[in-house]
Amino acid sequence: MSKIVINHTPPLSGTVRVSGAKNSALPILAACLLADGDSTIEDIPNLKDIENMIALIKWIGLDVSPLENYSVRIRSSKLKNHEVSYDLASKLRASFLVMGPLLARMGRTRVSLPGGCPIGTRPIDLHLKGFMAMGAKITQGHGYVEAKAKKLKGAKIYLDFPSVGATENIIMAACVADGQTIIENAAVEPEIVDLANFLSSMGADIKGAGTDTIRISGVKDLKGCNHTIIPDRIEAGTFMVAAAITKGTIKIENVMPDHLKPVSAKMREIGIGIKEDDTSISVSAADRYKPSDLKTMPFPGFPTDMQAQFMSLMSIIDGTSIITETIFENRFMHASELKRMGANIKIDGRTAVIEGIKKLTGAQVKATDLRAGAALVLAGLAADGETEIGEVEHIDRGYHNFEKKLISLGAKIRRVE
Ligand code: EPZ
Repeated sequence: MSKIVINHTPPLSGTVRVSGAKNSALPILAACLLADGDSTIEDIPNLKDIENMIALIKWIGLDVSPLENYSVRIRSSKLKNHEVSYDLASKLRASFLVMGPLLARMGRTRVSLPGGCPIGTRPIDLHLKGFMAMGAKITQGHGYVEAKAKKLKGAKIYLDFPSVGATENIIMAACVADGQTIIENAAVEPEIVDLANFLSSMGADIKGAGTDTIRISGVKDLKGCNHTIIPDRIEAGTFMVAAAITKGTIKIENVMPDHLKPVSAKMREIGIGIKEDDTSISVSAADRYKPSDLKTMPFPGFPTDMQAQFMSLMSIIDGTSIITETIFENRFMHASELKRMGANIKIDGRTAVIEGIKKLTGAQVKATDLRAGAALVLAGLAADGETEIGEVEHIDRGYHNFEKKLISLGAKIRRVE
């Protein structure tokens, strides 16, 4: 088991380049199951989750070969398997994203119910509601969910919650269904738009991606295409907090500033300097920060995937900051780890009240989930002394070369086996 050790770090400086977005690459890799022919996908981040998704689509029947600098070529012909086993699904929560493509392409799929994960139960009822509306027969039992449909039919589907995964799964299933599907109250995250752009390049007919009403008119078949994954807005936001928490000044490249509007707005509210051009964001520290409140919301609200990182920053901002987590029911586990470092945080249900302290102190802590792990790294940069983080495999699921990139900005961080 490896650990990450961080020592107090002076203000970060320099330039860092963000990788392709994990949460865009995952559904796009699943969408390759829908097409015949070759696709080339660029800027795929080299992450554990991506490795597991590639293993899954290879097992299902795609031929995936790595090309140079984070690109892959995917050859799709005959699909062999329509089942996703328990051990695969438990390694990769996003494995349920193959359900829509398999149902559409093979007329059936059997996927192990995604195990819960630390931040919440992660139900898939909205995904299944969409498939049933399109005529699929759904059965559940023995920890598996099975869906069958000779040919999916277009339907009108209202999502009770603008679920990212459900929106993605239903779009993929609808691409080759008979007739038109309308998704109302759809998720509008940038990763939805990237997936829709990829599918449209394959020949799909999708209108309204990025708005809460998406219309998909089924086509006969889809062909391979070339695509570059959008930059990872959460990785970019994590580096923005790294600069702020060390009072540094850095430039973050390969960024789409529009995707970071809620994060940049919150940072400006705190008093951090933010400068943007078309493809980069520069963050410069102020000598005093103001406490502020944040509430996680579906895009374009403040992203839940940035909540833990901001809790680390707020822990050392003089005054009272309040965080409300409205998306996941159990996404404050990093608070108890931060308290081991001296943070003053009170949790009451979905609300965290943070009283800023002067200095965090280094301690032994553990990553409880992906973004919590990243938040503890940021806290370690600012803390006095040495911080040792265990269970770092959570961090490796979502951050590519995290230590290397931080070291290039001056961070005192190393991995020990
Ligand atoms: C995606 O998860 C992301 N993962 C998550 O990122 C992100 O936190 C989340 O969207 C919200 O933005 C990927 O894209 C692979 P949801 P997803 O369906 O699709 C409820 C990270 O750190 N819900 O929008 O699972 C659910 O319980 C990860 O990179 C239902 O009730 O998120 C949750 O409360 C963590 N029924 C809320 O919706 C359903 O059928 C948000 O879930 C589906 C979801």
